[in-house]
Amino acid sequence: MKKRCLVVTGGGDCPGLNAVIRAIVKRASQEKDWEIIGSTDAFNGVLKEPMELVVLDKKTVAGIHVRGGTILGTTNKGGPFNWPVKNKDGLWVEVDKSREMLQKLKDNNIEAVINIGGDGSQAISQKLFEMGLNIIGVPKTIDNDLSATDYTFGFQTAVEIATDAVDKLVTTAFSHHRIMILEVMGRAAGWIALHAAIAGGAEICLIPEIPYDIRKIKTRIDRRVNSGKGFANIVIAEGAFPKHGTVIAQKSDEIGYHNLRLSGAATRLMHELKTIGVKTDMRSTILGHIQRGGIPCAFDRILATRFGVKAFEMILEGDFGKMVSYRNHDIMTVSIKEAIERYNLVDVNSNLIETARGVGIGFGD
Ligand code: F6P
Repeated sequence: MKKRCLVVTGGGDCPGLNAVIRAIVKRASQEKDWEIIGSTDAFNGVLKEPMELVVLDKKTVAGIHVRGGTILGTTNKGGPFNWPVKNKDGLWVEVDKSREMLQKLKDNNIEAVINIGGDGSQAISQKLFEMGLNIIGVPKTIDNDLSATDYTFGFQTAVEIATDAVDKLVTTAFSHHRIMILEVMGRAAGWIALHAAIAGGAEICLIPEIPYDIRKIKTRIDRRVNSGKGFANIVIAEGAFPKHGTVIAQKSDEIGYHNLRLSGAATRLMHELKTIGVKTDMRSTILGHIQRGGIPCAFDRILATRFGVKAFEMILEGDFGKMVSYRNHDIMTVSIKEAIERYNLVDVNSNLIETARGVGIGFGD
């Protein structure tokens, strides 16, 4: 009987997930004694009764590296430690099904697991590893906020999409003599906003790492408008907030969803600018989940493929409790524990920020 490795995609989807799955399956097919199994919607496929597991072979994954999303499905709700169930009063409560899940994995001859996901998913990986599961993490997020890796796949594609949006907004800002505000994803980290602002040539970039002063933004806009340029472009991360203020977020009523839903930073900024006396016409755009969809760019496909091959080789070596990581153009391994210790935030003293300032981008500080 073949050894079985389970592949799971968890958390928000992102371009490149399918390329990782394909790479794992293709690498595993070179070993005679291994079989790859997929669980639907993160670990839900294992937790459900009956289970939803699929055999992944070369045929199943043929050509999927160019497809966005994940063929396995994903979820950022629930999970083995917080499985939502309705109690007899009709209320939703969460139960810990992790032991039951580990037993099910054993009963199904699953020897190892590759968990492809962001910080939340890797926190689950670490807990399962501490309970004795042979698990490997593959970092994923468009936000690029996972530490211990220079890049996560999905990020470059999101930057391309956000930059394309800036390019489009620049022409309409110019035509209408307006200020256009583009809100992009980035809960804790402003990587997408910063890259898109530099690549698209925005005048102002607002990120969570640099709380903004609305008066400084007005001064920058006034300077631009008075110089004869009657338009400006602002890129703001969804997690950006004013000095002495907080992020704009709503609690979700979706069962098992614990994240705050961030949205509205651009609308609030527009309101603040009006209140402080900016007279130029303004419009805001929220780019939203468009940034997470569609075809992965070549860089993300290659990174995802490198991660997938390495993750399976770590299984062969028994190098568990580790995450694959991209450092200085090379693929390395790092303990999952270390990877989830903190967020990968934009260093406000980095060359990237200096570069942005060097071309006149204001951060409202
Ligand atoms: O973590 C990536 C991310 O894209 C965040 O930037 C965003 O706030 C969040 O996911 C939205 O997730 P969803 O709406 O899918 O729960």
